[in-house]
Amino acid sequence: MPSTTVRIGLIGAGDIAGAHVAGYLRNPETVTFAAVADPVRESAERRAADTGAAIYSDYASMLAEADIDAVDICLPHHLHKDAIIAAARAGKHILCEKPLCLTREEAAEVDAAVAEAGVTLMCAHNQLFLPAVAQAKKLIESGALGRVYEVRTTDSFYNDFDPSNMGWRAHAATSGGGELIDTGYHPTYLLLHLAGGSPVEVTAMLATHRLSFMEGEDSAQLLVRFDNGVIGSLVTSWAYQPADGTEKFSAVGELGSLTSDGTSLTFRGRGDAEATVYELEPVDEFGAEIGHFARSVLDGTRPLHTQKEGIEVLGIILAAYESAAHRTIAPVQPIGELTATTPRD
Ligand SMILES: NC(=O)c1ccc[n+]([C@@H]2O[C@H](COP(=O)([O-])OP(=O)(O)OC[C@H]3O[C@@H](n4cnc5c(N)ncnc54)[C@H](O)[C@@H]3O)[C@@H](O)[C@H]2O)c1
Repeated sequence: MPSTTVRIGLIGAGDIAGAHVAGYLRNPETVTFAAVADPVRESAERRAADTGAAIYSDYASMLAEADIDAVDICLPHHLHKDAIIAAARAGKHILCEKPLCLTREEAAEVDAAVAEAGVTLMCAHNQLFLPAVAQAKKLIESGALGRVYEVRTTDSFYNDFDPSNMGWRAHAATSGGGELIDTGYHPTYLLLHLAGGSPVEVTAMLATHRLSFMEGEDSAQLLVRFDNGVIGSLVTSWAYQPADGTEKFSAVGELGSLTSDGTSLTFRGRGDAEATVYELEPVDEFGAEIGHFARSVLDGTRPLHTQKEGIEVLGIILAAYESAAHRTIAPVQPIGELTATTPRD
């Protein structure tokens, strides 16, 4: 008899894994936390706690021995690609923290491995599960804004990193860049989601305003042109808190506009005196994300963002780095062997 829950093996039991484990426990009808792999035993034990999850010191053993259907990758960035490929080759479905991987070459390998294995890969783009984002997407798709002209996203905060607590994030070889490929990944996938087209070209300015010990930037501003005519703009930073009133996201179209601080959503039709304010019940984004992943695996449906969108997000970020390095507008390059779809698309 097929399993009625998705048996998940967690790979990497560090900080964000705590939110993921809480997400498994919020979805007892669809998820079983079956195993965890981390070379640091105390970290694995802390995440397993009293859940009964089996503990492994390396994920290769977990993939070979544990009774699991899927993995959840919560590793430092430079380790994502190898873990995705190993899991796909072992026939496991994959939930992967951002970024999908670090380069176009890695993206081509990931895409090929996932397509060949026929498994589901979902990018863990948690902010897509904010009720304000879901409501905004619904409004855009309903045509309430008409043709969309611009989308803006912001994700900035004062980060108290210092050289002693920054670990692998301080180095471009392990993080893939700086703030943009880390926290900046969130406003990038949000921009892609709300713009609704494929990214074509990017121009970017990077800055290091405060965290000068980082190898990469601590702040970035991007303009992105999409193939459906939408222009996106994005601000992201670890250096500073945004000014009061800065939106988390907004969109403007021919018939109206919407804006959100991430919790409520305001829509105003063009010329309307009154705006409609949607007060939305907060949800646990990680619980919603993991529930969505499990349902996608159990029902064989496409998750909101697969490797296809993960590769587009990475493409925007790599083009931004290219643009900033050469002070140009950089095209979003297709990846080498991109097969673009999974069998479930
Ligand atoms: N969605 C979000 O809001 C959010 C927030 C923070 C981090 N993240 C992402 O989560 C991922 C992990 O970040 P973090 O902050 O938890 O990092 P972390 O450094 O706290 O945790 C990484 C863990 O991986 C383990 N590890 C290293 N090599 C391993 C291996 N070969 N096999 C198994 N485990 C191994 C480490 O021992 C550590 O426990 C990153 O991709 C990061 O961008 C996402």
